[in-house]
Amino acid sequence: MAALLHVLLFAASARAFYLPGAAPHNFKKGDPVPLFVNALTPMLSSGVDNSKLKSLINYDYYNPKFRFCEPTGGAQKQPESLGSILFGDRIFNSPYDIKMLESNGTCQTLCVQRDVSGEDAKFINDRIREDYALNWLIDGLPAAEMKIDTRTGDLFFDMGFNLGNDDGKLRETPALNNHYEIVLRYHEPVQGNFRVVGVLVWPSSIGGSQEEPGTCETGEHIEPLLLTETQTQTIRYTYRVTWNQSDTPWATRWDNYLKIFDPRIHWFSLINSLVIVVFLCIMVSMILLRNVSRDISRYNAIDLSEDVQEDWGWKLVHGEVFRTPGRPMILSVMVGNGAQLCSMVGVTLVFALLGFLSPSNRGSLATVMMICWTFFGGIGGYLSSRVYASLGGTERRKNAFMTATILPTVIFAVVFLLNLFLLGAGSSGAVPFGTMLLIVLLWYGISAPLSAVGAYFGSRHGAIQHPVRVNQIPRQIPPTPKYLRPTAAALLAGILPFGAAFVELYFVLSSLFASRAYYAFGFLALTAGIVGLTTATVSILFTYFCLCAEEYRWHWRAFLTGGGSAFWLLAYGLFFWASRLNLHSTSSAILYLGYLLLLVMLDFLITGTIGFLASYWAVRRLYSAIRID
Ligand SMILES: *[C@@H]1O[C@H](CO)[C@@H](O)[C@H](O)[C@H]1NC(C)=O
Ligand SMILES: *[C@@H]1O[C@H](CO)[C@@H](O)[C@H](O)[C@H]1NC(C)=O
Repeated sequence: MAALLHVLLFAASARAFYLPGAAPHNFKKGDPVPLFVNALTPMLSSGVDNSKLKSLINYDYYNPKFRFCEPTGGAQKQPESLGSILFGDRIFNSPYDIKMLESNGTCQTLCVQRDVSGEDAKFINDRIREDYALNWLIDGLPAAEMKIDTRTGDLFFDMGFNLGNDDGKLRETPALNNHYEIVLRYHEPVQGNFRVVGVLVWPSSIGGSQEEPGTCETGEHIEPLLLTETQTQTIRYTYRVTWNQSDTPWATRWDNYLKIFDPRIHWFSLINSLVIVVFLCIMVSMILLRNVSRDISRYNAIDLSEDVQEDWGWKLVHGEVFRTPGRPMILSVMVGNGAQLCSMVGVTLVFALLGFLSPSNRGSLATVMMICWTFFGGIGGYLSSRVYASLGGTERRKNAFMTATILPTVIFAVVFLLNLFLLGAGSSGAVPFGTMLLIVLLWYGISAPLSAVGAYFGSRHGAIQHPVRVNQIPRQIPPTPKYLRPTAAALLAGILPFGAAFVELYFVLSSLFASRAYYAFGFLALTAGIVGLTTATVSILFTYFCLCAEEYRWHWRAFLTGGGSAFWLLAYGLFFWASRLNLHSTSSAILYLGYLLLLVMLDFLITGTIGFLASYWAVRRLYSAIRID
């Protein structure tokens, strides 16, 4: 059973990626096999346990300071999807001359770069010290280094390979890798048709005279190439392509790349979440179902004509629970936007589960998210206006306007500010102007009008009828216990959903910030479902406690207790920084904080909305069940 589930969750979801994605590309002998170069990214240095990420800034491959060889006629940018650009891909062509099954094992000189200034050398050395990696793509496959998993002994492909080697103990200056052993694995399904099924690169540093024709000789006895930061020098780039036949069929060519994920950790995470959910369900069913059904039957059994004083517990506040809370406008706008985000996450996860997000289709995850978000504007507008009307708000137009514009504007402002920092740091990660324009167009040109349409229908449908009337005069609220105060309740309630997700969260953060690929979508979807369920139950529970304590101002509290996990996410993000990052520059630190805050804000909106809507549903159910004269 467990094995079956495992196949469903992990292997199948990874394999299903090949369904639509890209069709196999057949090469004939001698066909050119283009090599594309992507931005340089910092990576966790290999071989060192507990290695930390030292930067968050990507650099264009053809940043003039790197002095990489450029193709004749200049580098050409390759078309990319929106999500791919947003997630930092900048793909260009390259001068590598690779033809299917030709020049096997021949040493080739790519180019000789003369007059590399000391300034450029310093830039390169600094990037080597920060463990930057080169990212190449051949036929959609990333170039990888072959590594051995120290725990399982399995071979796997680690995407990207080092710009150089910084052996701080042996020597001051790091060595630049100026020679690449490229091993291309091919599969021959039909006689004469070849497919690329693996791209491996072993970079190495070859010192000595850089002017002489290269020999590509590597090994222990070869002096590495050290760049001096005080004088100009020459760098010779060489490469050698080896074609190796492989039994791996095209359909499973990604498996080696995705092996990095030890499924045991994901299983641990899942079981951890399930334990929390089961624990919660038992608690909720014990507290809520037993007490509530007992309460209801007792309330309804009382003969009202005799014993009016018998009211107690949550029934006491029946005349108050639907009183308009403070700032209904902000609350409804947040709920509307949260619902829009929630549907986006849900649909994206379904897409990922069905295998529509092929890893060859770079950035498809982010693209799908953006498109979903844009087209779910209607959901946001509809829900926001209905919630607003139900809370007793009257400024419908203002509500519709704010729902459509506030969140995109805030996100846009944050991203724009971070972009300025990226530009200042000379990074290629800054979102290009054209892409910015496209996003603005998507948001304000499609999402906002859809939101307005949704708001129109929402106000047509109007407020949800309350099951009980609101009293004229507000009741006095007795002092509430400490654990029901808003901050305490939010922190307490947030622990459970956070606890259900934090192992999976580690992988998500690693893939966001340490450019690790993430493809365990089966686990992610289940975890997300569990987090949603936990958030809803915890909020209902706290709302019930509040009402029992005669504290009837539950609307904002429900949102806060639902969103409580966001505070833990923030704390975890800071912990992740302390334990996994060792950022050398302030720009990196600001970037990390900026993205983390954005993530926390979105999480707060999503989980807060779940908490609010669940509590709203529960409160309505609760008060429709009792008899009030
Ligand atoms: C290329 O050379 C390697 C060893 O140098 C050899 O194992 C491989 O079979 C050769 N490939 C082709 C297609 O000749
Ligand atoms: C290429 O194939 C040969 C022979 O099958 C093998 O010995 C060698 O290790 C392979 N090289 C790589 C890099 O896979």
